[in-house]
This record gives sequence, structure tokens and C-alpha cells, in this order.
Amino acid sequence: MENIKAYVQQHKDRFINELIELLKIPSVSADTAYSQDVIDTAEAVKESLTKAGCDLVEICDTPGYPIIYGEKIIDPNLPTVLVYGHYDVQPPDPIDLWTSPPFEPVIKTTEIHPEGAIFARGACDDKGQMYMHVKALEYMVQTNTLPCNVKFMIEGEEEVGSKSLGWFVERNQEKLKNDVILISDTGMISNQQPSITTGLRGLSYVEVEVTGPNRDLHSGLYGGAVANPINVLAKMIASLHDENNHITIPGFYDKVEELSLEERAEMAKAPFSLENYKKALDLNDVYGEKGYVTNERNSIRPTLDVNGIWGGYQGEGAKTVIASKAFAKISMRLVPNQDWEEITELFAKHFTNIAPAGVTVKVSPHHGGQGYVTPIDSIGYKAANMAYTETFGVPAIPVRSGGSIPIVALFEKELKSKTILMGFGLDSDAIHSPNEHFGIFNYLKGIETIPLFYKYFVELSK
Ligand code: BES
Ligand code: MN
Ligand code: MN
Repeated sequence: MENIKAYVQQHKDRFINELIELLKIPSVSADTAYSQDVIDTAEAVKESLTKAGCDLVEICDTPGYPIIYGEKIIDPNLPTVLVYGHYDVQPPDPIDLWTSPPFEPVIKTTEIHPEGAIFARGACDDKGQMYMHVKALEYMVQTNTLPCNVKFMIEGEEEVGSKSLGWFVERNQEKLKNDVILISDTGMISNQQPSITTGLRGLSYVEVEVTGPNRDLHSGLYGGAVANPINVLAKMIASLHDENNHITIPGFYDKVEELSLEERAEMAKAPFSLENYKKALDLNDVYGEKGYVTNERNSIRPTLDVNGIWGGYQGEGAKTVIASKAFAKISMRLVPNQDWEEITELFAKHFTNIAPAGVTVKVSPHHGGQGYVTPIDSIGYKAANMAYTETFGVPAIPVRSGGSIPIVALFEKELKSKTILMGFGLDSDAIHSPNEHFGIFNYLKGIETIPLFYKYFVELSK
């Protein structure tokens, strides 16, 4: 496949411009103000798959946003790769912190991306990474090198919990039949050191509401005599971790898999600089669960974090008030074997139990999903490693990620196949943050590496 390098070089400007066009459509799934844009993006993805050479492309309606299904079946006796990705993006907020508008993509250089990076919401997560697969297909079709069958399933609700995708997968088992699922929606260690994600954390996301008096009160007339829901909520949240930063919810750790010292020693071999980590985030120190190092805290250990908290007066100046209600959005990242529904229940029970007299508490689950781990001796993992080794010149390192793609566990359950997480993003690409970007190097390397995965997967399947 010497040609792929040449093909990418020859067409790279067009590849970049096509991605830029896709990034201009603000497909924010969380905010209904963007719903027409989400639908328009589905249409654009459909067109791109048709142009790249799929024989069949459909926009499949669901109770939520549409799923694009595409396929090119060259021989039913050959293996089938199912590519999954998402075309929806996170909200761009806070907009003020972007150095260029989130839906007006521009190329800028950074220390880590001297050859330039595309700055836009969704550049890395996941439009850029998903589109690498579309361009890899184009290459294989144009050069007659597609060695097997390929199916695409691109959804528009990943950032809000993939509800419709679960619905779709359950109803389309035969259509989605495959030998391996290939996803680029994760990261790698650095542009010099590729890695393959072998684990994802599960997730339980809840919203809590604490109610005190039936109306907002004068904080002088009533202060000290009634429970202040904001004070109470702050205290309740603070009590969810002990002095060692362990989570205090009874039963929370019961099913957590403890890694052996050997496995932890293996993990510690991945290149990591605590100094650089702190520097990149302007931190004077890291923080977390006692007994674990940073790379363990953010991958093999479960966590609980407040994602948003509000209530009371937030306008200009001061207002003396005791609010009637206080709210918080809380996420728990889970590790394999922890069941997200069970954890959600444990949380709800505990949070209700610790509420003092004088307030009432409501816990509403948002969404969740199970974690995932995949072995490194599968054909899919080996093929991915061979592909990375060829394009980067060094083998990939297996790494468990702290992020979640809840649908991956569901794929295994419903479709009975393994997922290979071939990510090309970097942690510094600022996904979900202002100034999200995706390196041109990473984008083009991805397009180069993907056809090699197909080649080796088919070879190893023989
Ligand atoms: N692509 C990310 C997940 C990810 C990023 C995994 C980097 C590993 C490395 C995905 O789009 C995402 O943001 N997932 C959400 C969960 C979802 C249910 C909202 C997450 O992890 O917060
Ligand atoms: Mn993603
Ligand atoms: Mn995301």
C-alpha cells in the first residue's frame, strides 16, 4: 500500500476542505435550537458516503436524530468491517473562550501541531475522526484495494447518550452483522507514540434537586432559621468523598475490578510526564484518590464529579436571598463490572438518605452505559497494531481510556463482535472544551492507517 501515502498527498487539500465544510454545520445534539443543523449534517454525511463509493446509503429515521447506514458488499464470503462514528457535536459553550468562532473552521499551528490543526467544534470529536474513514473508503474504492465488505453506521446522538442507536441496533441485527467494529473516537499518546484504546469507562449521569422553603426568602429575615438548599447541597456533595478521595456511597466499590500489581506495572510503562501534564493544565499539583497515580485515577478507577451546579442569585451585584432550590449535575465514571443502573440506584438511595431534615431531594437519572475492556490478542487488535506500526514506525501501546462510549458494550452484547478503538486524537486537542482542534498530521495519518487495518484484518482472518 505504498500508494496510500501518495494518494493522501495528492488529495490532501480536498480532504481538508471537505472536512471544513462538514464542520461548518453546527450539529449540536444537546440543544434543540440546532435540530435542523443536526438533520442537515446527516444529509451531508450521507452524500459523502455515496461519493466515496458505498453501493447503498440510507438515512434511517429513529425516535431521535437519524442514523446514516452505508455499505459496500464486495463478496458475502469475505469478512465485514462495521465502522461506527458520530456526526453530532458538543455545545460550543463557553463561546467567549474560543479564539475563533466554533463553527467557522480555521487552520492554526500549535506547539504540538506545527503542521497545523483545524480549530472547530467537532474537529476531533468526532467529525474529523469519522471522516477519515470516509476518505479511507474513497481511497480503497478508487484504487480497487478494498479487501472485504464494509458497513458504516454514523449516529447523531452520541453526545447525549445514544438512545436511538440502542433502539436501532436492537432492530437491525442482521443488517449490522459484522466481523469487527472499527471506531475512531478516542485518542493516542502522542504523534510519535501511537496507542490503541483497550478500555472505556462506564457512566452514570444524574441530576439532583434540593428544595427548601416553598419560595425564595429574605436572607436576613429567614437566614439561620431555615435550611438553605445551596448550603445543604454543597455539604451533601462534599460528603460524597472522604479524606482519601474515596467515594462514600455504600456499595459503590463492591464490583470494582482491582488490577494486579503486574497489570499496574505494565500500565506504568506507557510514556507519561507528570510535569508536562501539570504544565499543560496550569496546575500546581494533581489531585485524586489516595493509593493511585494519575494514569490510574483517570482510567481504571471509578470517579464522581459535579459537572454543573446552580441556584440562587447569579446576576450583577448582590441580592440577599435564600433560594428555594439548588441543583447539580453529577457524573460517575465507572469501570468494567460496575453496572451503571445499579450504581445509579445506589447513588439515588444514598443521596436521599443523607439529606437533612428541612429539605427534600429529587434525583433524576439522565443516561448511562457500561464500561468496556478488550483483549490485545484478538485479530482486530493485532491488525490495528500492524497498521499503526507501519505508518508510525513504532508499535502501538495498549491504553485504557477514562472516557466513555457507552454504545460499545451494547455492540458486544447485541452484535456479538469486538470493537477496535483506533483513535488519532490527542488529549491536548481540547475535545468538549473551547478551541477544540484536530491536527492535520493526525487527520492524514488516520486516512493512511485505516486501509492497512482492513488489509491486515483480512489477512489475519484467513
Ligand atoms: N469521543 C468521546 C469519548 C472519548 C474521548 C473516549 C476520548 C476516549 C477518549 C465521546 O464523544 C464522549 O464524549 N463520550 C461521553 C459520554 C457520552 C455518553 C456523553 C463522555 O465520555 O463524556
Ligand atoms: Mn466522540
Ligand atoms: Mn464527545
